[in-house]
Amino acid sequence: MKKRKLFKTEEYTFKSEKIAKRKLFVFLSDLHGAVYGHNNDALKAAIRRVKPDAVLIGGDMVIARDAFFRIPNWEKAAIDLVSDLAKDNKVYYCNGNHESVIRKYRNQAVWLNFSEALIDSGVEFINNKSVEFDEVIISGFEPLEEVKHFNIPRAYFKNTKYLPKMDELDNRLGIARNDRYNLLLAHKPEFIKEYSIWGADLVLSGHNHGGVVKLFNKGLVGASMKLFPEYTDGVYTRNNTKMIVSRGLGSHTLDIRINNPAELSVIELLPVF
Ligand SMILES: [Fe+2]
Repeated sequence: MKKRKLFKTEEYTFKSEKIAKRKLFVFLSDLHGAVYGHNNDALKAAIRRVKPDAVLIGGDMVIARDAFFRIPNWEKAAIDLVSDLAKDNKVYYCNGNHESVIRKYRNQAVWLNFSEALIDSGVEFINNKSVEFDEVIISGFEPLEEVKHFNIPRAYFKNTKYLPKMDELDNRLGIARNDRYNLLLAHKPEFIKEYSIWGADLVLSGHNHGGVVKLFNKGLVGASMKLFPEYTDGVYTRNNTKMIVSRGLGSHTLDIRINNPAELSVIELLPVF
């Protein structure tokens, strides 16, 4: 469990004629078991000050690594934070690649213990489903993760490597409704083209941890050690789709952040008039 001190709150505002009444969301991504203050009290207090209409979780709140599982109460930071927020907020959670690995390949019991603790506290998982939140439809697109960290035959790895097809979002989430504001939680930002074709108005994403080290305003390293990843932080636009890429709240493997503060995202949606 990595103790951290500093995170930066980033505020994003979007106007849309599909929005009838102001909405305020907090978005958390890539905690990876990090702790800000005792029991994440600093993070909880910052979120409570915002008074959001709902808290949205974009995944990777834990680390799917054997070394992490050996830490006593490895899941405690994520469960404590998210379940505490669920006491006085509606919380929607979509898996990142780390939860997806735990759920699909590593250990079903581990996943059930983790997810059931959150569900019992009132958290709603929206993996590959949509929920109505007034005029906003909140959807979650779960990554199917590569399994290279686990002892699984190569043929199986090839078969399960994640390559989204053009109709995959339609198949999993249904056809996006044009008359509603489509807010999509999708951990991996690389597929902005697919998210846009599906009909997302706003995508909330993470995954690349801001590029770990910021050099000349560019993120140096992304997930899977990819150099100079295309999507690291801030807002990206493709056709009618905006995508926020959070720098995330934690880290792993490359356990540093240089010129790249951890991020708590606050998203305001406003009507046009
Ligand atoms: Fe991550």
